[in-house]
Parts: sequence; C-alpha cells; structure tokens
Amino acid sequence: MPAMGSKSDTDLCTGGPRFKFERLIVSEPSGVALQFKEHDGRRFIVKTSAPDQQRAMKKEIELLEQLKGAEHIVSPILSSRNPLVPGKDERHGLDVPFVIMQCLENGTLEQFRYRIHKHKGRYSIGYIPNRILWAIFLCKIRACMAMAYPQSASPGKPEKPDERTPDSIAHLNMHAGNFVFDQPEPGEGEHSTVPPLKLLGFGFARRLGHNIWPTRGPPTMRPHTFDVVMDLFTDESERGKRNCGMDQNLLDVGVQMVCLITQFSYPSVSHVREVTMDEFYFRFPPHLDPELKRLVQRCLAGEPYNRPRLEELAGLIDSGVFSKTANDYADTPNRYYESDQNIRDFVQRYILDAETAPLPLLGA
Ligand SMILES: Nc1ncnc2c1ncn2[C@@H]1O[C@H](COP(=O)(O)OP(=O)(O)OP(=O)(O)O)[C@@H](O)[C@H]1O
Ligand SMILES: [Mg+2]
Repeated sequence: MPAMGSKSDTDLCTGGPRFKFERLIVSEPSGVALQFKEHDGRRFIVKTSAPDQQRAMKKEIELLEQLKGAEHIVSPILSSRNPLVPGKDERHGLDVPFVIMQCLENGTLEQFRYRIHKHKGRYSIGYIPNRILWAIFLCKIRACMAMAYPQSASPGKPEKPDERTPDSIAHLNMHAGNFVFDQPEPGEGEHSTVPPLKLLGFGFARRLGHNIWPTRGPPTMRPHTFDVVMDLFTDESERGKRNCGMDQNLLDVGVQMVCLITQFSYPSVSHVREVTMDEFYFRFPPHLDPELKRLVQRCLAGEPYNRPRLEELAGLIDSGVFSKTANDYADTPNRYYESDQNIRDFVQRYILDAETAPLPLLGA
C-alpha cells in the first residue's frame, strides 16, 4: 500500500468508493463489528478488537483461518489487496487485529426464534416443524464435524470425517446468537429449501486437552442420573474416535436444540436435562419427532462416552433430513405443518423475508 498522500491514494479517494458502510453490528468494550456493502452488491463484515483484547482476537482469527472452507462456519475473506490491511511497516490500516468475513444475511437463530415467538397464534402454532428442526440439527452437527476435521469440506460439499485423529477445537459459546443463516443454495442439495446455518463468534473457542470438562467435574465412578433415567449407555465398541472438544460441542448442540424446540432458554445444563426428562415437565411439544428427540437426549448424556459418535450422529440426522417427508408425519395432529409447501412458506416468512435488525431485550 502506498504512503498516505501519494498519487494512488488520491485515486482511491476520487475514483469513487468501492464500498460503503451500512451499519454497526456490535459495539462492545471488547471490540466492534461493522457491515459494508461493495459496489457489486456483496456485503462483508469487519470485526476488530479493542486494543486490550488483541490476543483473543488473534486467536479467533487463527481458528477461523484453520476452519476456512467449512460449509457451516463463517468464512474469513482476508485479502492482501484490501486497503485496510496494515502494511509491513504497520503505519497504515487499523493497526489492531481484524478479520473481514462473508456477511451472512438471514439473521441469527436467536432472531429466528424471536420471530416465531412473536407470530405465535397468528400464522403458526409457535413451534418449528420437525423437518426444519432436522435441517438445523444437521447444520450444527456439520459445524462440529468441521471443528473435529478442519478443512475436510470440498467446495459445495459438507464437512466429513476422515482418517485423521480428530481435532479438539471446542467452540464454548454456542448460543443462538452465534449461529447465522446464509442464503439457500440452488438445486436439490442439502440447502435448497432451508439455508445453511453457520457458526461464528469464536472468541471463546480453544482446543481442549485430555480430561478437560468445562461443564462438569471429572468423571466419577457413579453413573450419571440422567443417563440412567434416559437409558443412554453405550458399549465401549461404539464410542469411536472422540476427545473433550468434540464431546463438549455435542453437549452444547444438544442444549441449543432443546432451547430451540421448547422456545425457551435455561440457566444451566442441569435445567436442560431436567426438562428433557419430559414425564415431569411436558415442555417438549407433542408433535416432536421421537427419533429427533432421542438424538437430542443422547447429546445431553452426562457421561461423554454415552453421547453419540459424531459420524453416527451425522448419518442419522442426514437420513432424518433426506428420507423423511410429510408422509412420515401424516398421523400426527400437526401434519399440515410438515408439508413441502408449508416448509417453504415457513422458511420464506421466518428466515428469508425476515427483519434482521437487533432484537429487543427478551426475558426468554
Ligand atoms: N459474518 C457475519 N455475518 C452476519 N452477521 C454477523 C457476522 N459476524 C457477526 N455478525 C453478527 O454480529 C454478532 C456478534 O458477532 P460475534 O459473535 O462474532 O461477536 P461477539 O458476540 O462480540 O463475540 P463472541 O461471540 O466471539 O463472544 C453476531 O451475533 C451476529 O448477529
Ligand atoms: Mg457472538
């Protein structure tokens, strides 16, 4: 990049702007995220940290670079031609670590939940059709696959396991504001109806070493009550390749699925497990597919070994997405909601046409 005031700098300013600032997405003491729009209509996000948070930001950028190419993780698009990139002498640019990312335009899972909640009774029963829940569950598990097997996706193809020892990246902040919908894809593939949901917000992510269990104490000799009540025991031969990072991500996906299904947020994993033992709480909607419910319960197992293997889970959810049709729900009271037409309308109303402005503060 030329020195300030040189001929090309002047060109940059007089040749018409290449992009314009659209909005401030996040402004916190720890940093900011800004949205821009290029002339060709493409949007991008610039996220940068406050000077005292540079280490965390650098770590986040490093992880995003390692996960680049994953279909279910936000893509960084850092370009050395970008005028914001600091020069070697560090006299230009922002001079703090930053990342330029693709802009995911269809809102967070939190915003999606809010819209459904707001329209309850008017257009919908307030719950999400099973076929959409399956699709969202698959996106989340694909994001876990990306963290276990970085760079395993090829263009247009989802993340998949391979012969490598899995990586132990744990996201550790998998709330509904950190999943954002992208655009649906043309054709008949996984995202032709329900757009891909992508994971971002890697500010707390890190690799977990052996025997690091952030949301529970060390393994005990006593079986976990939840596993006993839900009958979740797995044979040793079925445990597969796993590590603390993968186990943690699976648990977090299970928790988030319960929040989505029940349209509620819970203060702790124990609360989530309690409501999941539904004979006491009846929070799960009656129309919920029992196969989907069982998979979510398995992700919540207290003993990580009792959670499903990632490959097994991806396969089961994949067949839930691709082989289930409206006919599978024909005998349920809410069969109307599972029709192809309703699924398309639901996606249009609550994801594609929806307002993505910041949410009002909600209790739930
Ligand atoms: N690439 C993007 N496309 C669309 N929206 C984005 C993008 N990046 C961030 N956002 C929006 O900004 C919000 C905050 O971004 P992000 O999660 O990266 O920052 P944070 O919440 O401050 O950090 P962290 O989640 O790592 O603690 C997201 O919830 C999302 O609404
Ligand atoms: Mg976030």
